[in-house]
Amino acid sequence: MTRLSYLHEPGVLDNLAVRYAKNIIYTYTGNILIAINPFQRLPNLVDVQTMEKYKGANLGDLDPHVFAIADVSYRQMMNEGKSNSILVSGESGAGKTETTKLLMRYLAFLGGRSGTGGRTVEQQVLESNPVLEAFGNAKTVRNNNSSRFGKFVELQFDKSGKISGAAIRTYLLERSRVCQTSSPERNYHCFYFLCSAPSEDIKKYKLGDPSSFHYLNQSSCIRVDGINDAEEYLATRNAMDMVGITEEEQEAIFRVVAAVLHLGNISFAKGTEADSSVIKDAKSRFHLNTAGELLMCDCEKLENALIKREINTPEGVITTTVGPNSATVSRDGFAKQIYSRLFDWLVNRINASIGQDPSSDKLIGVLDIYGFESFKTNSFEQLCINFTNEKLQQHFNQNVFKMEQEEYTREQINWSYIEFVDNQDVLDLIEKKPGGIIALLDEACMFPKSTHETLSQKLYEKFKNHKRFAKPKLSRTAFTIQHYAGDVIYQSDHFLDKNKDYVVAEHQELLNASRCSFVSVLFPPAPEENTKSSKSSSIATRFKL
Ligand SMILES: Nc1ncnc2c1ncn2[C@@H]1O[C@H](COP(=O)(O)OP(=O)(O)OP(=O)(O)O)[C@@H](O)[C@H]1O
Ligand SMILES: [Mg+2]
Repeated sequence: MTRLSYLHEPGVLDNLAVRYAKNIIYTYTGNILIAINPFQRLPNLVDVQTMEKYKGANLGDLDPHVFAIADVSYRQMMNEGKSNSILVSGESGAGKTETTKLLMRYLAFLGGRSGTGGRTVEQQVLESNPVLEAFGNAKTVRNNNSSRFGKFVELQFDKSGKISGAAIRTYLLERSRVCQTSSPERNYHCFYFLCSAPSEDIKKYKLGDPSSFHYLNQSSCIRVDGINDAEEYLATRNAMDMVGITEEEQEAIFRVVAAVLHLGNISFAKGTEADSSVIKDAKSRFHLNTAGELLMCDCEKLENALIKREINTPEGVITTTVGPNSATVSRDGFAKQIYSRLFDWLVNRINASIGQDPSSDKLIGVLDIYGFESFKTNSFEQLCINFTNEKLQQHFNQNVFKMEQEEYTREQINWSYIEFVDNQDVLDLIEKKPGGIIALLDEACMFPKSTHETLSQKLYEKFKNHKRFAKPKLSRTAFTIQHYAGDVIYQSDHFLDKNKDYVVAEHQELLNASRCSFVSVLFPPAPEENTKSSKSSSIATRFKL
C-alpha cells in the first residue's frame, strides 16, 4: 500500500478492490495487515503447506498474510524476549473472529508439541472456540455468527518457545439478548442447538420446537442458512469433551439452558389484590414447574421469588407482592443472570482445564473484540460496544500516528505532519468522571425516580455544545454520537434497566439452595454488605475497566 503513487482514500480503496477481485484478501500498509472478508474458503490460503512457507520468513518477503503477522510476533518474542499482542479490529462481520482463529492456529503450529497425543494446551485453546461461540455468538443483522462478547486470549510460552499455558479472558456478554430478540436476529446459538438435540435429550429437558419458546419466537428467524443446529449440538458436546468439561457438567449446563427457555414461558396475570400477580394458566404453571425441576430448586419458592419481593426496613423484612409487569421484569432479570453466570462459568472452567504456566515470562495475546455497530435502532449494548471500539481506535492512533510522528521529530526527519482525527473528545464525552455519559447514567440508576426521559434531558442540557453530541430533531429521548466510524443514534429507552447489574437477593438465595451443586456454585452466597442493597453495580462502569 505504501508503494502507491497516490496515497489517498480513493487510491487505497481501489487498490484493495482490485486485489480483492483477484481473491487477494491480504494487503500490508506499513506493518499493519488489512484483511478483507472473502466469504468463502479460498484454496491453499490457510493450509499446512502455507504455514510451513511462512515459518521464519521475513515480513514482506512473501505475499501479505495473517500468518506473517503471527510469525513476526512469535520471532520477536523469541529473539527479544518480548511479549506481544495482536489486535484484530473491524466492524461487525469484518472477519475478526475467523482471523483470530487463523492466528491461533498458526501460533499453535509454531509452538505446539507435535506428537504428544491427548489434549495439548493448543488443542484445548482451539477447541474452546466452538464452546464459547455456541454460548456467546448469535445471528445478527450483520453476521450469522456474531460474537456477543469480547475475548482476549493469552498464549504462554516456555523458554524453548513451546506453548505452556493459556488464559482466556472475556468481556461482558450481551445479556439482554437472552430475553429479547427481534427479526432477523436470533438468540444465542446454544438454545437452538439444544432444541435440535437427539430425542432423549429433548424428552429429558421437556423441550420442543424453538418457536414454542417466548425467548426464541419473538424473532421469526429460527433457522439460519449454513448452520445445522442438530450437528452443532453434537459438535459443541465434542468440543466440551475436548476442553475437559465432564459429562456430568455438560448435563448440568444444558439443564440450565433448558431452564432458561422454560422460565421465559412463564406468564403472569393480575392477582386479586392491587399490585399482585399470579401464574397465568396451566401452561405457565407447567413451565414454572419444569424450570424449577431443571434448576433443582423448590418450585413454590421459585414462584415466590418471581411474584414477591422482600424489602428491608428498619422494622425488619416486609414481603410485598408485585404486579404482572414487574413479575415479568423479574423473570427476565433472573434468566439473564443465570445465563451470564453460566457463560462466565464456562470461561473459568475452560481456563482451569487448560491451565496456566506461572513460570512463563513470554506471551502473545490476541484480542478479538466485538466490532463497531450501527443499526437502525441502537441501544445500550451498541454504546458499550462502540465505546470499546473508540478505545481501540485511540490506542491505534497513539501507536500509529502520535508515536511515529514523535519519532520523526526526535530524529529530525523531514516530514509533513499527517492529519488524523483524535477521538479523545468522544472518549471524554462517554467516560469522563464526573460528567460523562456513563457517569450520568450510573447516577440516574441510583435514583429511583429517574427515567430514560429525565436522563435524556440531562444529557441534552449537559452536552448541548459538545461537537460530538447531538439531539435528533424529532426525538425527546434519543441522542447521536459522532464516532470515529460514523454517527450513531442511540435510543435511550432501556438504558437504565440494562445498565443495572445486581442479582435480586431472592433469586440468589433460591439458586444458592439448589440441590444441584452446579447451579448452587453459579450463585455463591453474596458477601454480607452486598446483599439486598447491592443495587449500584453498573454494567457500563464495568465496561470501562
Ligand atoms: N478468512 C475468512 N475465510 C472465509 N470466510 C470468512 C473469513 N473471515 C470471515 N469469514 C466469513 O464471514 C463471517 C463473519 O466473520 P467473523 O465472525 O469473523 O466476523 P467478526 O468480525 O468477528 O464479527 P462480529 O464483530 O460480529 O463478531 C464468518 O462466519 C465467515 O462466514
Ligand atoms: Mg466475532
